[in-house]
Amino acid sequence: MQSPFNSSREEARSSFFGRTCAASLALVLAVAASSAFAQGKPIAQLVRNGEKFAFQVDGKPFIMMGGQVGNFSAFPDEMERAWPKFRAMNANTVEYPVYWNVIEPEEGRFDFVGFDAILRGARGQGLRVILLWFGTWKNGAMDWSPNWVKADTARFPRVLDYGGKPIRVLSPHSKTTMEADKRAYSAMMRHLKEMDEADRTVIMVQVENEPGSLGSVRDYSPEAGRLFNGSVPASLVTALKKRPGTWKEVFGRVAEEAFSAYYVSSYINEVARAGKGIYPLPTLVNVWNGGYGSNDNFDRFDRPGETYPSGGAVSHMLDLWKANAPEINVIASDIYHQSPMNYRMILDRYTRPDNPLLIVETGRPIAARAFFYALADYSAIGFAPFGVDGGGPSGELRPDMEAVGADFRVVDSAVPVITELQGTPRLKAAVEEEGIGARNLIFSNYDLLVRFRRVARQPAGAPPPAPASIPSEPTGRVLIAELSPDEFLLMGFDSAVEFRPAQGSDYTAAQLLKVEEGYFENGAWKATRAGTTSQGDYSPATVNLAARGARMRVTLMRY
Ligand code: DGJ
Repeated sequence: MQSPFNSSREEARSSFFGRTCAASLALVLAVAASSAFAQGKPIAQLVRNGEKFAFQVDGKPFIMMGGQVGNFSAFPDEMERAWPKFRAMNANTVEYPVYWNVIEPEEGRFDFVGFDAILRGARGQGLRVILLWFGTWKNGAMDWSPNWVKADTARFPRVLDYGGKPIRVLSPHSKTTMEADKRAYSAMMRHLKEMDEADRTVIMVQVENEPGSLGSVRDYSPEAGRLFNGSVPASLVTALKKRPGTWKEVFGRVAEEAFSAYYVSSYINEVARAGKGIYPLPTLVNVWNGGYGSNDNFDRFDRPGETYPSGGAVSHMLDLWKANAPEINVIASDIYHQSPMNYRMILDRYTRPDNPLLIVETGRPIAARAFFYALADYSAIGFAPFGVDGGGPSGELRPDMEAVGADFRVVDSAVPVITELQGTPRLKAAVEEEGIGARNLIFSNYDLLVRFRRVARQPAGAPPPAPASIPSEPTGRVLIAELSPDEFLLMGFDSAVEFRPAQGSDYTAAQLLKVEEGYFENGAWKATRAGTTSQGDYSPATVNLAARGARMRVTLMRY
């Protein structure tokens, strides 16, 4: 791919192979030996396995079950107040920003005191970290760039809007700005390597935050105008299998947005490439997708640069981004929509053979339910609600965070089972939504009916529950893993799971042989108590999952 900032990818590739071929065996062995010595633990990586991806941390499949702190929280004292909330949430990962204006307050002078303190704090909590680089872009603006960048508009030009006025966004066409960001990002990665190579606390880095420009669909500077009126780079045209032409000819209605996306993705790709050259952690870019909660044509009505940052990797720019930013391993949409239709639409669009699904930012009441279908139906590698440290006093979680924390607790020790079965028909989720009181899941030997019980069954003759005691949001959710054809792992809340022999089989009924609550330890099941079932009354083989949540292993037979 021809990058406006650097040599083409072909050149980069051939020079890489050139170097590799020229390298002597001794050098290869020396590198291997030195990394084994320095590392102890392998660096986190994403491994493609057929249609799905494995996120390997310490060499083992990992599901990031985390949360993001507020935008202004990544200072040591604030983080001390945040840690109890991460504990309460049963999180294994914390996502927090690294602010360019804090680590490079004066050009070329770096200050990593706060950075080190927070990283040590996370380690002390046994948490992994995803760093969020707030550099050139943060939510389609430039607010976390240093004052020496903000002040020097000649050296670090702004995007000019249609009327020629500078806006609060740095131009993606400036090589000087890109080099300055790259230097700072590289300094951070160098420092991180020194500090974390042995521990591997940090498992991924987000390069910028919701990049793009808010306030203008593109830069209207004379230089950008010249580029826009020229031809689309041949490498992009070829990668997207389009016919050559100008931006308007190739991209029509979305020409200006595609133009911005090309320059923003090229810029970020260069920054990421430099960082990986120093310390090759997986990288991600997050996306402000816009939309009004409609799930029909919103990407035709929404206006890039007005209602979301233009140039970001929104779903209709995803092909372009994937082709043009190979140094970015994951493109992850932030998801705040509360409708399951919209939520799933976004998950569908971002789950691709070239893109692992990561929910890097999400929130509000749908999150606890969405986590289950993200794992089962989209093979998600991670899930993190935003603003874990917000809300009440230290340690007290907001109700929506508490619900996600309960999910993490129930799923936690079963991660090896889940990662093994993701992408197969042996892992499924049943999730309650408004108006959906039950779901059917079909496995090889059994057909399942999952009934949601937001309103707990009352003993016969008892008065109906007071409306205030009924949760206003759907709460029923179950993740089901078929361990073997007659054995299941159920993880979930507020549900009753009924088993019937597969329709059309030679059996008419299912019988529960063993139902245990428990957890996994080093791959072995440890039962803690008997699970609750329907055995004893005359209803079909049914296992109940209480509102507090349960993880149960169920063995059945058919007759
Ligand atoms: C999305 C951004 O990426 C976050 O940094 C934060 O500003 C949230 N929006 C707030 O909802």
